[in-house]
Formats: sequence, C-alpha cells, structure tokens
Amino acid sequence: MTEIKAVGVVGSGQMGSGIAQLAAVHGLDVWLLDTDPAALSRATKSITTNIHRLISKGQLSQAAGNNALGHLRCSSNLEELRMADIVIEAIVESEDVKKTLFLELDRIAKTSAILASNTSSISITRLASATSRPCQVIGMHFMNPPPVMKLVEIVRGADTSDNTFYATKALAERFGKTVICSQDFSGFIVNRILMPMINEAFHALYTGVATKEDIDTGMKLGTNHPMGPLQLADFIGLDVCLSIMKVLQAGLGDSKYAPCPLLVQYVDAGRLGRKRGFGVYDYRAAEQVKRSARL
Ligand code: NAI
Repeated sequence: MTEIKAVGVVGSGQMGSGIAQLAAVHGLDVWLLDTDPAALSRATKSITTNIHRLISKGQLSQAAGNNALGHLRCSSNLEELRMADIVIEAIVESEDVKKTLFLELDRIAKTSAILASNTSSISITRLASATSRPCQVIGMHFMNPPPVMKLVEIVRGADTSDNTFYATKALAERFGKTVICSQDFSGFIVNRILMPMINEAFHALYTGVATKEDIDTGMKLGTNHPMGPLQLADFIGLDVCLSIMKVLQAGLGDSKYAPCPLLVQYVDAGRLGRKRGFGVYDYRAAEQVKRSARL
C-alpha cells in the first residue's frame, strides 16, 4: 500500500486550509498551494490561530503545535508538489477548472502519487480521465470544517485501484475520521441528500412560506439539526451550493434538482455566505464588532 508521508493541498480556501491543518497536526509534511496570494496569507493566519487555540485548550502540546507549523509550507508554485505522496485538490467547484489542474498535477506529481479531489459532487471518473493514471485518482470528500467534522466520504471512480482506495482510507483514519464509501454518481451520498433539502429551504423562502429565521428554527428544533438549512448554506458558501445543484441536475437529469431562482440571484449579487460576510444572513456588523474587540 502507498505510504503517505508528504501531502500536497491545492486550494487554500475554507476546505484546503482545514485539510492542510489536519495533515500538519498529524505529523505529515504539507505543501499548501493557491493561485491567490491573499488566500494563502488568510490560510496561514487561520491555521496558526487554530493551532495556538488547540495548544491553549490543552488539546495539543506546545511541541506538537510547533512541529505542525514547522511541517507546513505555503506556495503559489505547483511544481513544489513533486515530492507529495498524495495531492488533495480543494479548488473551486468547476469541472473544467479541476480537469485543467488534474492535467497539470499528472505532469508534476511523482508516478506513484495519488491524486485526490475534495469535490462535493463532480464525477471522479471524469476528473481521472484528464490524467494518465486513472487508477490513482479518488474522491476524498472532507466535511466543513475539516479539523472538526468526523466524516470523510471516499468516492471510487470507475478505475480507482484497491491500493489507492486503501491508502486513502488509511490516511483519513490516521486523521481520526470515520470513512464512508460512495459510488461515483453526482453528489455522492451526503450532498445527494443534503443539497435538495437546502434548495427546498430556498424555495420556501422564495415563495414566502416563512421568514428565514422561522425556516431555520423550524428545521433546528423540529428535526434536531444543529443548524438550519439556510444558515448551513451560508456556512458552506452559496456559490458552492449552486454549483452542486447544477451538477446534480446535469448528472441525474431530473428537473427536481433545478437550483432555486433565489439561490441563483444571491450568488449573482455576490452574496456568497459567511466567507463574504453576506449571504442569506448579513454577518458584516457582527464581524466589525469582533474586529473592534480584537484591536
Ligand atoms: P473556497 O472558495 O473557500 O476556496 C477555493 C480556493 O481555491 C480559493 O482560495 C481559490 O483562490 C483557489 N483556487 C481556485 N482555482 C485554483 C487553481 N486553479 N489553482 C489553485 N488554487 C485555486 O472554496 P471551498 O469552500 O474551500 O471549496 C473547495 C472545494 O471543496 C470545492 O470543490 C467544494 O465543492 C469542496 N467542498 C466544500 C465544502 C464547503 O462546505 N465549503 C465542503 C466539502 C467540500
């Protein structure tokens, strides 16, 4: 089985930065890559803050924290991924953009390296087809935020080998995660079920069934979910939710997956959720108060 000592993570947004933190805390060498230097500097800041928080709560020793930060390197140069045993892609949820990256990764990564995607919904088989090593391509779908959520959904493409599957599963288990395995159909298990629910919550808001607060409170207290579907959509990113609905609609060919017009309109307006300070809810005033309190 492929032994994994060095991990490359491409995309240093919400998911990539969390995956890089997880890998560094578990003693692996990590390269975190992004084309946007501002995203890399936000990721470095958030990983450093999170690791210091773990140390101050006694969940990580000072030595292990320093070790984790020492294992992490950030870069904009993909060629640095030459040494990685596995590269985990966590860039924008677009098949074309991901395929272009997989083509590049196939050229750069060593021949034994596994190429994994954290995609929420896109076909692993089609991403694999952009490479010359489809048996070493796999879906490794972390939940948000990766350091906290207990699940990793592993998706086998049509040609994913047993060696690739077992090495990826072993890595997820080393991170302390529970693994579930899905066949390669749009949305896999979790988003096939979750996203239509979120989309339906947008329809309820769009057609005036109730206020956003009552929709979220209804689902929180009525079905015992830790957060309401509209709040969860803001947390995931409305652009990510919209992309997933489009993949479900195209991949499963059923009009029931058509994205709600209100979701489309919010994304068109740049209301992408918490990461932009504004989505279904407006977080800007609360974030300003937090920033002032830190000064
Ligand atoms: P994000 O928007 O926070 O971060 C994406 C990052 O990728 C950005 O920093 C961007 O600069 C970078 N990027 C874009 N194109 C690139 C390229 N060609 N090369 C290098 N870097 C590039 O997005 P987020 O939320 O982290 O999602 C990333 C992936 O993870 C998507 O495929 C998404 O579907 C998946 N995912 C998202 C979850 C969520 O709750 N947000 C949960 C599980 C999976």
